[in-house]
Amino acid sequence: MIVNSRIPVKIEKMAIGGAGIARHDGLVIFVPLATPEDELLVEITTAKKNFAEARIVEVLKPGPARRTPDCPVALVCGGCNWQQITEDEQRKQKEALVLETIKKFNPELNFDYLPLQPSPRVFRYRNRIQPKFHNGRFGFFARNSHEIVEIDDCPITEEVLTKKFPEVRQWAADKKSRELLRLEMYISENEEVRYGLITDEDDGIGFSQVNRFQNPHLLETTLNWAGDTEFPQVFDLYAGAGNFTFPLMQKYKSAKVTAVELNPKLVERGRGQNKDKRLSYFMSDVESYMRRATIQKQDLVVLDPPRAGASEYIMRALAAAEPQKIIYISCHPVSLARDLKWFFAWAQKLGKKFRLERVQTFEMFPQTDHVETIAELRVDS
Ligand SMILES: C[S@@+](CC[C@H](N)C(=O)[O-])C[C@H]1O[C@@H](n2cnc3c(N)ncnc32)[C@H](O)[C@@H]1O
Repeated sequence: MIVNSRIPVKIEKMAIGGAGIARHDGLVIFVPLATPEDELLVEITTAKKNFAEARIVEVLKPGPARRTPDCPVALVCGGCNWQQITEDEQRKQKEALVLETIKKFNPELNFDYLPLQPSPRVFRYRNRIQPKFHNGRFGFFARNSHEIVEIDDCPITEEVLTKKFPEVRQWAADKKSRELLRLEMYISENEEVRYGLITDEDDGIGFSQVNRFQNPHLLETTLNWAGDTEFPQVFDLYAGAGNFTFPLMQKYKSAKVTAVELNPKLVERGRGQNKDKRLSYFMSDVESYMRRATIQKQDLVVLDPPRAGASEYIMRALAAAEPQKIIYISCHPVSLARDLKWFFAWAQKLGKKFRLERVQTFEMFPQTDHVETIAELRVDS
Protein backbone atom coordinates (compact mmCIF):
# COMPACT_ATOMS: atom_id res chain seq x y z
CA MET A 1 0.00 0.00 0.00
CA ILE A 2 1.45 3.35 -1.00
CA VAL A 3 0.73 6.63 0.76
CA ASN A 4 -1.42 8.97 -1.38
CA SER A 5 -2.66 6.11 -3.59
CA ARG A 6 -6.41 6.01 -4.12
CA ILE A 7 -8.46 2.85 -3.98
CA PRO A 8 -12.12 1.87 -3.77
CA VAL A 9 -13.05 -0.02 -0.58
CA LYS A 10 -16.13 -1.34 1.22
CA ILE A 11 -16.46 -0.84 4.98
CA GLU A 12 -17.14 -4.06 6.89
CA LYS A 13 -17.73 -2.71 10.37
CA MET A 14 -16.46 -0.16 12.88
CA ALA A 15 -13.29 -0.64 14.96
CA ILE A 16 -12.24 0.28 18.50
CA GLY A 17 -11.01 3.87 18.14
CA GLY A 18 -13.95 4.76 15.90
CA ALA A 19 -12.70 4.21 12.33
CA GLY A 20 -14.41 1.96 9.81
CA ILE A 21 -12.57 -1.22 8.76
CA ALA A 22 -12.02 -2.18 5.13
CA ARG A 23 -9.74 -4.82 3.61
CA HIS A 24 -7.62 -4.57 0.51
CA ASP A 25 -5.27 -7.33 -0.65
CA GLY A 26 -5.58 -8.91 2.78
CA LEU A 27 -4.51 -5.71 4.56
CA VAL A 28 -6.75 -3.92 7.07
CA ILE A 29 -7.44 -0.25 6.32
CA PHE A 30 -8.85 2.05 8.99
CA VAL A 31 -11.07 4.80 7.59
CA PRO A 32 -12.24 7.55 9.98
CA LEU A 33 -15.76 8.95 9.52
CA ALA A 34 -16.91 5.88 7.63
CA THR A 35 -20.18 3.98 8.12
CA PRO A 36 -20.72 0.21 7.88
CA GLU A 37 -21.27 -0.99 4.29
CA ASP A 38 -20.13 2.32 2.80
CA GLU A 39 -18.51 1.98 -0.60
CA LEU A 40 -15.79 4.61 -0.65
CA LEU A 41 -12.96 5.98 -2.67
CA VAL A 42 -10.20 6.46 -0.09
CA GLU A 43 -6.69 7.87 -0.12
CA ILE A 44 -4.02 6.09 1.91
CA THR A 45 -2.61 8.43 4.56
CA THR A 46 -0.45 5.97 6.54
CA ALA A 47 0.98 2.67 5.38
CA LYS A 48 2.41 0.23 7.95
CA LYS A 49 3.43 -3.39 7.64
CA ASN A 50 0.17 -4.79 9.01
CA PHE A 51 -2.36 -2.06 8.39
CA ALA A 52 -3.02 1.22 6.64
CA GLU A 53 -5.05 4.36 7.38
CA ALA A 54 -6.99 6.26 4.78
CA ARG A 55 -9.22 9.30 4.39
CA ILE A 56 -12.47 9.39 2.50
CA VAL A 57 -12.15 11.09 -0.91
CA GLU A 58 -15.66 10.24 -2.07
CA VAL A 59 -18.63 8.27 -0.82
CA LEU A 60 -19.39 6.10 -3.87
CA LYS A 61 -22.38 4.35 -2.31
CA PRO A 62 -23.44 5.20 1.25
CA GLY A 63 -24.05 2.37 3.70
CA PRO A 64 -27.70 2.04 4.87
CA ALA A 65 -26.90 3.71 8.22
CA ARG A 66 -25.06 6.74 6.80
CA ARG A 67 -26.71 10.11 7.46
CA THR A 68 -25.74 13.76 7.16
CA PRO A 69 -24.94 15.04 10.68
CA ASP A 70 -27.03 17.97 11.92
CA CYS A 71 -23.97 19.54 13.52
CA PRO A 72 -22.23 21.69 10.88
CA VAL A 73 -18.76 20.86 12.24
CA ALA A 74 -19.33 17.16 13.01
CA LEU A 75 -16.91 15.95 10.34
CA VAL A 76 -14.02 18.20 11.42
CA CYS A 77 -14.50 18.62 15.18
CA GLY A 78 -12.49 16.25 17.40
CA GLY A 79 -15.48 15.78 19.73
CA CYS A 80 -17.82 13.37 17.90
CA ASN A 81 -16.62 10.73 15.46
CA TRP A 82 -19.86 8.79 14.84
CA GLN A 83 -22.43 11.50 14.06
CA GLN A 84 -22.54 10.26 10.45
CA ILE A 85 -23.95 6.92 11.72
CA THR A 86 -27.57 6.48 12.81
CA GLU A 87 -28.01 5.83 16.54
CA ASP A 88 -29.43 2.33 15.92
CA GLU A 89 -26.29 1.39 14.04
CA GLN A 90 -24.02 3.05 16.62
CA ARG A 91 -25.60 0.81 19.27
CA LYS A 92 -25.32 -2.30 17.11
CA GLN A 93 -21.65 -1.62 16.47
CA LYS A 94 -20.83 -0.95 20.14
CA GLU A 95 -22.61 -4.07 21.30
CA ALA A 96 -20.73 -6.18 18.74
CA LEU A 97 -17.36 -4.52 19.44
CA VAL A 98 -17.46 -5.11 23.21
CA LEU A 99 -18.38 -8.79 22.78
CA GLU A 100 -15.77 -9.31 20.07
CA THR A 101 -13.05 -7.65 22.18
CA ILE A 102 -13.80 -9.66 25.34
CA LYS A 103 -13.88 -12.88 23.29
CA LYS A 104 -10.67 -12.02 21.46
CA PHE A 105 -8.75 -11.77 24.74
CA ASN A 106 -10.73 -14.52 26.50
CA PRO A 107 -11.96 -17.04 23.90
CA GLU A 108 -12.77 -19.65 26.55
CA LEU A 109 -15.03 -17.42 28.68
CA ASN A 110 -18.76 -18.05 28.57
CA PHE A 111 -21.10 -15.44 30.00
CA ASP A 112 -24.54 -13.89 29.62
CA TYR A 113 -24.29 -10.94 27.28
CA LEU A 114 -27.26 -8.68 27.88
CA PRO A 115 -28.66 -6.28 25.25
CA LEU A 116 -27.12 -2.80 25.22
CA GLN A 117 -28.90 -0.24 27.39
CA PRO A 118 -29.64 2.80 25.19
CA SER A 119 -29.08 6.33 26.51
CA PRO A 120 -32.28 8.26 27.36
CA ARG A 121 -30.80 11.14 25.32
CA VAL A 122 -28.67 10.84 22.21
CA PHE A 123 -28.11 14.62 21.95
CA ARG A 124 -27.94 17.28 24.70
CA TYR A 125 -26.59 14.76 27.20
CA ARG A 126 -23.13 16.14 28.16
CA ASN A 127 -22.93 18.08 31.43
CA ARG A 128 -19.17 18.75 31.35
CA ILE A 129 -17.09 19.98 28.41
CA GLN A 130 -13.61 21.41 27.84
CA PRO A 131 -13.70 24.05 25.09
CA LYS A 132 -10.63 26.06 24.06
CA PHE A 133 -10.00 29.73 23.28
CA HIS A 134 -7.16 31.16 21.20
CA ASN A 135 -6.78 34.23 18.96
CA GLY A 136 -10.47 35.08 19.28
CA ARG A 137 -11.56 31.56 18.36
CA PHE A 138 -13.77 29.62 20.78
CA GLY A 139 -14.48 25.94 20.21
CA PHE A 140 -12.98 22.45 20.30
CA PHE A 141 -9.80 21.06 18.82
CA ALA A 142 -10.23 19.71 15.30
CA ARG A 143 -9.75 15.95 14.82
CA ASN A 144 -6.05 15.02 15.32
CA SER A 145 -5.05 18.67 15.53
CA HIS A 146 -4.68 21.64 17.86
CA GLU A 147 -6.51 23.94 15.44
CA ILE A 148 -9.69 25.29 17.01
CA VAL A 149 -12.97 24.53 15.25
CA GLU A 150 -15.22 27.50 16.06
CA ILE A 151 -18.64 26.70 17.44
CA ASP A 152 -21.82 28.53 18.43
CA ASP A 153 -23.45 25.39 19.69
CA CYS A 154 -22.59 21.78 20.49
CA PRO A 155 -25.59 19.48 20.02
CA ILE A 156 -24.35 16.77 22.38
CA THR A 157 -23.99 19.28 25.23
CA GLU A 158 -26.83 20.24 27.56
CA GLU A 159 -28.47 23.50 26.52
CA VAL A 160 -27.90 25.25 29.86
CA LEU A 161 -24.19 25.07 29.03
CA THR A 162 -24.35 25.94 25.32
CA LYS A 163 -26.50 29.01 26.11
CA LYS A 164 -23.53 30.32 28.08
CA PHE A 165 -21.11 30.05 25.14
CA PRO A 166 -21.24 33.82 24.30
CA GLU A 167 -20.57 34.72 27.96
CA VAL A 168 -17.69 32.24 28.26
CA ARG A 169 -16.17 33.33 24.95
CA GLN A 170 -16.23 36.96 26.17
CA TRP A 171 -14.80 35.95 29.58
CA ALA A 172 -11.92 34.18 27.82
CA ALA A 173 -11.36 37.10 25.41
CA ASP A 174 -11.19 39.53 28.36
CA LYS A 175 -8.16 37.64 29.68
CA LYS A 176 -6.25 39.12 26.70
CA SER A 177 -3.96 36.10 26.74
CA ARG A 178 -1.76 35.19 23.80
CA GLU A 179 -1.68 31.61 25.00
CA LEU A 180 -4.20 28.93 24.17
CA LEU A 181 -6.74 28.84 27.01
CA ARG A 182 -8.14 25.49 28.09
CA LEU A 183 -11.56 25.97 29.61
CA GLU A 184 -13.94 23.78 31.50
CA MET A 185 -17.71 24.23 31.74
CA TYR A 186 -20.00 22.03 33.80
CA ILE A 187 -23.28 21.85 35.63
CA SER A 188 -22.66 21.76 39.37
CA GLU A 189 -24.46 19.53 41.88
CA ASN A 190 -26.84 22.41 42.65
CA GLU A 191 -27.63 22.87 38.92
CA GLU A 192 -25.51 25.97 38.43
CA VAL A 193 -23.36 26.51 35.36
CA ARG A 194 -19.72 26.88 36.35
CA TYR A 195 -16.72 27.59 34.19
CA GLY A 196 -13.03 28.26 34.61
CA LEU A 197 -9.56 27.69 33.27
CA ILE A 198 -7.62 24.46 33.28
CA THR A 199 -3.98 25.21 34.00
CA ASP A 200 -0.82 23.32 34.94
CA GLU A 201 -1.65 24.07 38.59
CA ASP A 202 -5.40 23.40 38.38
CA ASP A 203 -6.68 20.48 36.33
CA GLY A 204 -10.36 21.37 36.73
CA ILE A 205 -13.08 19.63 38.71
CA GLY A 206 -11.84 16.11 37.97
CA PHE A 207 -13.88 13.14 36.85
CA SER A 208 -17.67 13.08 36.92
CA GLN A 209 -20.06 11.01 34.82
CA VAL A 210 -20.87 13.24 31.84
CA ASN A 211 -24.26 11.74 30.99
CA ARG A 212 -26.52 12.29 34.01
CA PHE A 213 -29.50 10.84 32.12
CA GLN A 214 -27.82 7.46 31.76
CA ASN A 215 -25.82 7.43 35.01
CA PRO A 216 -28.86 6.35 37.16
CA HIS A 217 -29.24 3.25 34.97
CA LEU A 218 -25.57 2.42 35.42
CA LEU A 219 -26.02 2.76 39.20
CA GLU A 220 -29.22 0.75 39.22
CA THR A 221 -27.63 -2.12 37.30
CA THR A 222 -24.56 -2.10 39.54
CA LEU A 223 -26.73 -2.29 42.67
CA ASN A 224 -28.98 -4.98 41.17
CA TRP A 225 -26.07 -7.10 40.11
CA ALA A 226 -24.40 -6.64 43.48
CA GLY A 227 -27.49 -8.40 44.88
CA ASP A 228 -29.44 -8.40 48.12
CA THR A 229 -27.03 -10.24 50.41
CA GLU A 230 -25.48 -8.03 53.10
CA PHE A 231 -21.72 -7.79 52.67
CA PRO A 232 -19.47 -7.22 55.70
CA GLN A 233 -17.29 -4.94 53.59
CA VAL A 234 -17.85 -3.08 50.33
CA PHE A 235 -14.91 -1.64 48.38
CA ASP A 236 -15.35 1.07 45.75
CA LEU A 237 -12.06 1.34 43.88
CA TYR A 238 -11.53 4.40 41.62
CA ALA A 239 -14.40 5.96 43.52
CA GLY A 240 -14.26 9.53 42.16
CA ALA A 241 -16.47 11.71 44.36
CA GLY A 242 -18.56 8.72 45.43
CA ASN A 243 -20.97 8.16 42.53
CA PHE A 244 -21.17 4.45 43.42
CA THR A 245 -19.98 4.72 47.03
CA PHE A 246 -23.04 6.48 48.45
CA PRO A 247 -25.73 4.36 46.75
CA LEU A 248 -23.76 1.27 47.89
CA MET A 249 -23.71 2.63 51.48
CA GLN A 250 -27.42 3.19 51.33
CA LYS A 251 -28.14 -0.30 50.07
CA TYR A 252 -25.77 -2.20 52.37
CA LYS A 253 -26.68 -0.57 55.65
CA SER A 254 -24.43 -2.59 57.92
CA ALA A 255 -21.39 -2.84 55.62
CA LYS A 256 -18.09 -1.16 56.26
CA VAL A 257 -17.51 0.83 53.07
CA THR A 258 -14.11 1.78 51.65
CA ALA A 259 -13.68 4.24 48.78
CA VAL A 260 -10.28 4.62 47.10
CA GLU A 261 -9.53 7.57 44.80
CA LEU A 262 -6.34 9.33 43.72
CA ASN A 263 -7.61 12.82 42.88
CA PRO A 264 -7.52 14.99 46.06
CA LYS A 265 -10.39 17.25 44.93
CA LEU A 266 -12.68 14.27 44.39
CA VAL A 267 -11.64 12.74 47.72
CA GLU A 268 -12.40 16.04 49.46
CA ARG A 269 -15.83 16.20 47.80
CA GLY A 270 -16.53 12.58 48.67
CA ARG A 271 -15.45 13.02 52.28
CA GLY A 272 -17.50 16.19 52.57
CA GLN A 273 -20.67 14.43 51.47
CA ASN A 274 -20.80 11.84 54.21
CA LYS A 275 -19.25 11.61 57.66
CA ASP A 276 -20.72 8.19 58.47
CA LYS A 277 -18.33 6.14 60.60
CA ARG A 278 -18.92 3.14 58.33
CA LEU A 279 -17.14 4.99 55.50
CA SER A 280 -13.38 5.26 54.95
CA TYR A 281 -12.37 7.45 52.02
CA PHE A 282 -8.75 6.86 51.07
CA MET A 283 -6.73 9.19 48.87
CA SER A 284 -4.51 6.60 47.24
CA ASP A 285 -3.44 4.96 44.06
CA VAL A 286 -5.47 1.75 43.85
CA GLU A 287 -2.41 -0.40 43.26
CA SER A 288 -0.70 0.93 46.40
CA TYR A 289 -3.94 0.50 48.32
CA MET A 290 -4.22 -3.14 47.22
CA ARG A 291 -0.89 -3.88 48.90
CA ARG A 292 -2.52 -3.29 52.28
CA ALA A 293 -6.20 -3.95 51.51
CA THR A 294 -8.14 -6.28 53.77
CA ILE A 295 -10.60 -7.68 51.25
CA GLN A 296 -12.20 -10.90 52.56
CA LYS A 297 -14.16 -13.74 50.99
CA GLN A 298 -17.60 -12.41 51.95
CA ASP A 299 -16.99 -8.92 50.52
CA LEU A 300 -18.10 -6.96 47.46
CA VAL A 301 -15.64 -5.06 45.25
CA VAL A 302 -16.76 -2.45 42.72
CA LEU A 303 -14.10 -1.02 40.46
CA ASP A 304 -14.47 1.69 37.84
CA PRO A 305 -10.99 2.47 36.50
CA PRO A 306 -10.10 5.12 33.91
CA ARG A 307 -9.62 4.18 30.22
CA ALA A 308 -6.24 2.59 30.91
CA GLY A 309 -7.96 -0.01 33.09
CA ALA A 310 -6.56 -1.51 36.30
CA SER A 311 -3.29 -3.50 36.20
CA GLU A 312 -2.08 -7.06 36.36
CA TYR A 313 -1.10 -6.54 39.99
CA ILE A 314 -4.60 -5.31 40.91
CA MET A 315 -6.36 -8.12 39.04
CA ARG A 316 -4.04 -10.66 40.66
CA ALA A 317 -4.64 -9.19 44.13
CA LEU A 318 -8.41 -9.32 43.55
CA ALA A 319 -8.26 -12.94 42.44
CA ALA A 320 -6.12 -13.80 45.47
CA ALA A 321 -8.47 -12.03 47.92
CA GLU A 322 -11.41 -13.97 46.43
CA PRO A 323 -14.30 -11.61 47.32
CA GLN A 324 -17.64 -13.24 46.60
CA LYS A 325 -18.51 -10.64 43.96
CA ILE A 326 -16.69 -8.12 41.79
CA ILE A 327 -18.47 -5.57 39.61
CA TYR A 328 -16.13 -4.05 37.04
CA ILE A 329 -17.36 -0.88 35.31
CA SER A 330 -15.28 -0.02 32.26
CA CYS A 331 -15.05 2.84 29.78
CA HIS A 332 -12.67 1.00 27.45
CA PRO A 333 -13.42 -2.49 26.12
CA VAL A 334 -9.74 -3.30 25.43
CA SER A 335 -8.56 -2.60 28.98
CA LEU A 336 -11.58 -4.50 30.36
CA ALA A 337 -10.85 -7.53 28.15
CA ARG A 338 -7.15 -7.44 29.09
CA ASP A 339 -7.90 -7.10 32.82
CA LEU A 340 -10.33 -10.05 32.63
CA LYS A 341 -7.63 -12.10 30.97
CA TRP A 342 -5.18 -11.27 33.76
CA PHE A 343 -7.82 -11.96 36.38
CA PHE A 344 -8.73 -15.43 35.10
CA ALA A 345 -5.12 -16.39 34.43
CA TRP A 346 -4.19 -15.51 38.03
CA ALA A 347 -7.34 -17.11 39.46
CA GLN A 348 -6.36 -20.35 37.75
CA LYS A 349 -2.73 -20.14 38.94
CA LEU A 350 -3.89 -19.47 42.50
CA GLY A 351 -6.50 -22.23 42.41
CA LYS A 352 -9.45 -19.83 42.79
CA LYS A 353 -12.67 -20.53 40.94
CA PHE A 354 -14.50 -17.55 39.45
CA ARG A 355 -16.95 -17.12 36.62
CA LEU A 356 -17.87 -14.14 34.48
CA GLU A 357 -21.57 -14.10 35.21
CA ARG A 358 -22.83 -11.35 32.87
CA VAL A 359 -21.80 -8.37 30.84
CA GLN A 360 -23.84 -5.42 29.57
CA THR A 361 -22.89 -2.40 27.49
CA PHE A 362 -24.30 1.03 28.20
CA GLU A 363 -24.68 3.82 25.69
CA MET A 364 -23.11 6.59 27.75
CA PHE A 365 -21.51 8.68 24.98
CA PRO A 366 -23.81 8.73 21.90
CA GLN A 367 -22.33 10.13 18.65
CA THR A 368 -18.88 8.84 19.65
CA ASP A 369 -17.29 5.39 19.59
CA HIS A 370 -16.90 5.43 23.38
CA VAL A 371 -18.87 2.87 25.34
CA GLU A 372 -19.41 1.91 28.96
CA THR A 373 -19.57 -1.73 30.03
CA ILE A 374 -20.45 -3.52 33.28
CA ALA A 375 -19.13 -6.98 34.05
CA GLU A 376 -20.01 -9.17 37.03
CA LEU A 377 -17.50 -11.68 38.33
CA ARG A 378 -18.43 -14.08 41.07
CA VAL A 379 -16.96 -16.99 42.94
CA ASP A 380 -17.91 -20.20 41.16
CA SER A 381 -19.04 -22.47 43.98
C1 LIG B 1 -13.91 6.31 35.36
S1 LIG B 1 -13.61 7.34 36.73
C2 LIG B 1 -14.79 6.70 37.87
C3 LIG B 1 -15.14 7.59 39.03
C4 LIG B 1 -16.40 7.21 39.82
N1 LIG B 1 -16.52 5.80 40.00
C5 LIG B 1 -17.64 7.77 39.14
O1 LIG B 1 -18.48 6.99 38.67
O2 LIG B 1 -17.80 9.01 39.12
C6 LIG B 1 -12.07 6.79 37.29
C7 LIG B 1 -11.56 7.47 38.53
O3 LIG B 1 -10.31 6.88 38.88
C8 LIG B 1 -9.45 7.88 39.38
N2 LIG B 1 -8.11 7.32 39.22
C9 LIG B 1 -7.34 7.30 38.11
N3 LIG B 1 -6.21 6.61 38.33
C10 LIG B 1 -6.25 6.17 39.60
C11 LIG B 1 -5.38 5.39 40.42
N4 LIG B 1 -4.23 4.91 39.92
N5 LIG B 1 -5.75 5.13 41.68
C12 LIG B 1 -6.92 5.62 42.19
N6 LIG B 1 -7.79 6.35 41.46
C13 LIG B 1 -7.46 6.63 40.18
C14 LIG B 1 -9.79 9.10 38.56
O4 LIG B 1 -9.42 10.29 39.25
C15 LIG B 1 -11.29 8.95 38.40
O5 LIG B 1 -11.96 9.61 39.43
